[in-house]
Amino acid sequence: MTDALLRVEDLGVTIGGAPVVDGVSFAMRKGEVLALVGESGCGKSLTALALLRLLPPAARLAGGRVLLDGTDLAALPDRAMRRLRGQALSIIFQEPTASLDPLTTVGSQVMEAWRAHNAGGAAQARRAARDMLDAVGIPDAEKRLDQYPFELSGGMCQRIMIAIALICGPSLLVADEPTTALDVTIQAQILDLMRRLVAERGAGVLIITHDMGVVADIADRVAVMYAGRIVEVAPVTDLFAAPRHPYTAMLLASVPRLDVVPKAVLATIEGSVPAPEAFGSGCRFAGRCPLAVARCTAETPPLNEVAPGRLAACWRSAEASTLLSGAAA
Ligand SMILES: Nc1ncnc2c1ncn2[C@@H]1O[C@H](COP(=O)(O)OP(=O)(O)OP(=O)(O)O)[C@@H](O)[C@H]1O
Ligand SMILES: [Mg+2]
Repeated sequence: MTDALLRVEDLGVTIGGAPVVDGVSFAMRKGEVLALVGESGCGKSLTALALLRLLPPAARLAGGRVLLDGTDLAALPDRAMRRLRGQALSIIFQEPTASLDPLTTVGSQVMEAWRAHNAGGAAQARRAARDMLDAVGIPDAEKRLDQYPFELSGGMCQRIMIAIALICGPSLLVADEPTTALDVTIQAQILDLMRRLVAERGAGVLIITHDMGVVADIADRVAVMYAGRIVEVAPVTDLFAAPRHPYTAMLLASVPRLDVVPKAVLATIEGSVPAPEAFGSGCRFAGRCPLAVARCTAETPPLNEVAPGRLAACWRSAEASTLLSGAAA
């Protein structure tokens, strides 16, 4: 990848010694939207937090490199990292109302984000904030600046969060379930906004979601995570058409489709993600996988190129998509 924006190499996070993020590697191009998907507890948020060096106290970075435009974030001193956060890369979380300070006007919060990385005065900060609110589609921006978060709807608060995240023009935006707390119409508007801002600004977006509808809507490529590891990476259309990992196939088979009349009960994935303490040897999905053979529990399948631009970590990758048609029949 020559125009690489982000390159994550062998990232590891442990909690109480358990490898909750284990050898995660992926890369992103400038202007690309990469979706990180997987069931609850598979390590998506910890991966994102590790990139930004915002891990909770219980978690430890266990190694790896995070190259953003060639700079290794994992090796930066804390002060340099604080400078980069908000400026070169920023993050938005699921709950906009929980991330905004309820006692401060939204204008002050957007201006503070601008002033953290810019030298201008109050008037200039206010102008930048108002322009940013305009850019994220908040009507009446001048008036909104002086309002408090409780005076705004959830969708408007998420737009404010996006404004804060983008005001210093980051080259990478990490969005952890940014629309999960919003209703479907607002969700579509926010995704549309993110897509537009990315196209206009050439930033990359790493979007974390468990919603395959969101993936289909916004992502260029998808990385599928299972029990702390990436098990498949593919362009979005290829992934939906023919998954190369059984876990991906089963995730897709469990999504309701409007264009297919269900002939049977919607497929569900039997069992649950093993607890990190219980990760055994071999493929961590083997215990739930209909294609598993003896080799799967004996040997960990590496994340290999299985087709141009496609990676999968499965000994039976070529047969994975049969699970998709099997589920629809
Ligand atoms: N602060 C913490 N203290 C202890 N364990 C944690 C903490 N944060 C995460 N974990 C554990 O680490 C693992 C990965 O968690 P993570 O939050 O990254 O999952 P996720 O994929 O983002 O899930 P979700 O879709 O529910 O947000 C889980 O087993 C989780 O219970
Ligand atoms: Mg999460």
